[in-house]
Amino acid sequence: MKTHQKGVVIWLLGHSGAGKSTLAQMVARRLEADGYRTLSLDGDVVRAGMNSDLGFSDADRLENIRRVAELCKILLVKDLIVICSFITPMQSHRDLLRKTLGDRYLEVYLECPIAICEQRDVKGLYRKARNHEIENFTGIDSGFEVPTQPDLVIRTALWQADECAEQVYRLAISTQS
Ligand code: ADX
Repeated sequence: MKTHQKGVVIWLLGHSGAGKSTLAQMVARRLEADGYRTLSLDGDVVRAGMNSDLGFSDADRLENIRRVAELCKILLVKDLIVICSFITPMQSHRDLLRKTLGDRYLEVYLECPIAICEQRDVKGLYRKARNHEIENFTGIDSGFEVPTQPDLVIRTALWQADECAEQVYRLAISTQS
């Protein structure tokens, strides 16, 4: 266990299927193996519990991100490395995160063409969205703005998962020296 570590929030954003949760797990595991204390927050998990009252309207997505930002602020008091995986589709969401968390917020955009996310369709949600079984689905009938000032861009369709994880890990470690 590290005797001293700096609390930071590594915020992974991008479309459903871009690889956020997978990368978050890989990076958390690696940091933990180094002796860092981490905590992961994932859209699906948070929405199943703390934010189960929220849907996918613009207002609900903003509230989802706002609550998680406030939670991160509390976790930073304990100097945790918090790894967040949320679509975070709007620039206003990212601006709010930066405003709430300041320089503790590190934004990582997982860039993956929507066609590839849809082809992977790990959760079968793109198919449902195309069939109008669910609505307001990001990339189908709900918007996604390309981030204007990410700290790091990871092209998850072009690089191997371990290469992607290495980049995020390096960013996390760079905050600790
Ligand atoms: S965010 O837009 O508010 O940042 P968040 O990351 O919390 O979204 O939740 C996204 C996850 O919810 C997706 O990975 C997917 O599994 C699920 N989901 C269910 N309905 C939708 C929808 N309409 N749009 C996007 N994701 C959805």
